[in-house]
Amino acid sequence: MPRHWWQDAVFYQIYPRSFADSNGDGIGDLDGITAHFDYLRELGIDALWLSPINPSPLRDWGYDVSDYCDAHRDLGTLASFDRMIAEAHRRGIRIIFDLVPNHTSDQHPWFVESRSSRTNPKRDWYIWRGGKNGGPPTNWKSTFGGSAWEFDAATGEYYLHSFLREQPDLNFRNPAVVEAMHDVIRFWLERGADGFRVDVIAQMIKDAEFRDNPEVPAGQQLSQLERLAYEQRWSSDQPEVHDLVRGFRRVLNEYGDRMMVGEVWPREQRSLADYLRPDELQQAFNFRFLFSPWSATAFRARIEEVESLLGAEAWPTYTLSNHDFPRHITRYGAVNAEARARMAAVLLLTMRGTPFIYYGEEIGMPNVEIPAPRKRDPMGRDGCRTPMQWNASRGGGFTSASEAWLPLGDCTAINVANQLGDSSSMLALYRRMIHLRKHSRALSEGSYRTEPNAPEDCLVFHREADSQHVMVALNFADAPRRLEIPRATILLSTTGNGRQDLVSGRIELHSNEGVVLEVI
Ligand code: GLC
Repeated sequence: MPRHWWQDAVFYQIYPRSFADSNGDGIGDLDGITAHFDYLRELGIDALWLSPINPSPLRDWGYDVSDYCDAHRDLGTLASFDRMIAEAHRRGIRIIFDLVPNHTSDQHPWFVESRSSRTNPKRDWYIWRGGKNGGPPTNWKSTFGGSAWEFDAATGEYYLHSFLREQPDLNFRNPAVVEAMHDVIRFWLERGADGFRVDVIAQMIKDAEFRDNPEVPAGQQLSQLERLAYEQRWSSDQPEVHDLVRGFRRVLNEYGDRMMVGEVWPREQRSLADYLRPDELQQAFNFRFLFSPWSATAFRARIEEVESLLGAEAWPTYTLSNHDFPRHITRYGAVNAEARARMAAVLLLTMRGTPFIYYGEEIGMPNVEIPAPRKRDPMGRDGCRTPMQWNASRGGGFTSASEAWLPLGDCTAINVANQLGDSSSMLALYRRMIHLRKHSRALSEGSYRTEPNAPEDCLVFHREADSQHVMVALNFADAPRRLEIPRATILLSTTGNGRQDLVSGRIELHSNEGVVLEVI
């Protein structure tokens, strides 16, 4: 099978307001991103995903779009966008953008028209219904809490919002809406976007009959994913969504080798693969590592699940952190967090599948405590969205303003400048590991196989391609562990301490140490 650029790429997610502020207003912007392409290139990044850059009243920090075809004035202009794309492409970096089709802002002109009267031509662009038994039309819940329906007194009907009430859902059963979104896709592809990360793509179409979702059975311990099977039975992941995805893909295909990665929360794990057919998404996010406790058994089960669900045809993705969840170094707890995050980096970058790095994880940026008066996000996600820590100066090298839009973390302790010169830093580890992955056929495209004969608290696996055989051994225990291994050279260790290059027969792993070996 021919390889595609997005299979070999190492992706890096940027939260644009928090990467780099070029004009001193305390808010990151597009020119700021452009100014750091050399840093990203040296890290080994091939492609960026930018969280939304569109105009927005910022109720959901850009995921409430009020104009799909422009840039938010805090971030720049279409001219800064064009410069950014040109500079990225000049260095061989691709950029994909967040497309948020499920809902708009309530300030979007489409919704302003839609809510103006029942007979407005845009009325049917959103999902309006009369109430039922004196209440909302269905029992559907907003992902952000409460009913997903908001009563509009002026026109006497409810509109649907799967998220905030300021984020009304578009009606993709209306062909005019589908066409409008295709035009949005074309607009950015024409301007040079390499593709899209598509927000909550499975939610784009709902049950035509508006049936109530079943109640979650009481007294059962369900995972977040298991709950979706009940809570979104009729409001997400409906069979018709695949026609919509295919439509998006047809538009994408008009522009050559562009790509879409979907934020897919399937109601059942096995339906993830349904979105990865040759005429649908090239990639879908896989959130399993975000919810994995720190244990070899847990990570192993998640990897094997992905391997068996997706099969050889579909290409997986892996991610440790993003803008919606606490950063992994913080999730891994107070003890050994740094060692664990180093090992997690090795895990992420040795998987069979495209890795997505979240800005700042390469320097081990933790979540930041946000004092109450500075909180911005209604869902409390600010702590993982704080400004990038470039150096130890007052604004962290992020801004020259006296105050950044969100508080900075401890820039004296953790910053890019310090780590650039330190071969034992997290940054150095990410650079080495990315380099290793790129120069190894086994790691970039080889098969995956778990080693069955490993101690229970170690995850050991093989990646093999052509004549190269790489073995990865990760010790999740807070104590050393011994492993039997074939004759091998050590390509990388997360501790680097006292390692011989050549090992044979046996290796002792330090607590929370990961090693990458080439079997010879
Ligand atoms: C996605 C985004 C999240 C946003 C939500 C609603 O889950 O990742 O940040 O709040 O969609 O658009």
